[in-house]
Amino acid sequence: MSFVKNMESRYTTKMYDASKKVSPAQIADLKRILQLSPSSINSQPWGFTFVEEEQLKAALAQVSLFNAPKVENASHVVVFNVISDLAYFEENHIGALPERQQEYYKNFLKPMPEAEIKAWMKHQVYLALGVFLSACAEMGIDSTPMEGIDVAAYADLLKLEKHETVFAVAIGYRDVEDFNQLDKNPKQRKVLEEVIATI
Ligand SMILES: Cc1cc2nc3c(=O)[nH]c(=O)nc-3n(C[C@H](O)[C@H](O)[C@H](O)COP(=O)(O)O)c2cc1C
Repeated sequence: MSFVKNMESRYTTKMYDASKKVSPAQIADLKRILQLSPSSINSQPWGFTFVEEEQLKAALAQVSLFNAPKVENASHVVVFNVISDLAYFEENHIGALPERQQEYYKNFLKPMPEAEIKAWMKHQVYLALGVFLSACAEMGIDSTPMEGIDVAAYADLLKLEKHETVFAVAIGYRDVEDFNQLDKNPKQRKVLEEVIATI
């Protein structure tokens, strides 16, 4: 399928078939794809946690608010984390970059308030989300991006030390009854001319 067709046919899955699992080979591909995600100055300020263990998935579901059933029945939950320890980030990530990228960080990012640097780091994690959702569509895997989770409770359950959770993505295969499938809930978007200008 073309990329356009993949984007037309993907949708946010609301109900999963718990009996269907994403294959280990596809999980390995998704890990590699996340590793390859681009980021500003190649800063890679992230960490991704693939959860397949049923007990942990059930515990995460408990702190997933209205998203609980998706987390419980999905094949895997992929948690997108950002580095929260700025000193660690600067030493291990920025410090390992070529001189030119280090200079960019020093001149344009470092002078900003810490909250803005951290917002910039989170932007990179969202970019990885776009890559990930597109990859799932291409691989025939259903997905649900979820900001509606208790991120602090996620970080606790995952025992994150230098990272904090930003959001999670449930992946797997839709339940045949999923009310959000496109034949029941056709894709809604603003008309192209309203959001895209050609000058
Ligand atoms: C960053 C982000 C967070 C989202 N959080 C949730 C969520 O917590 N629960 C949910 O069911 N959908 C969530 N969505 C799905 C959006 O509502 C959905 O992408 C949008 O309505 C467009 O529908 P579509 O993905 O089916 O095309 C989220 C999407 C994004 C990109």
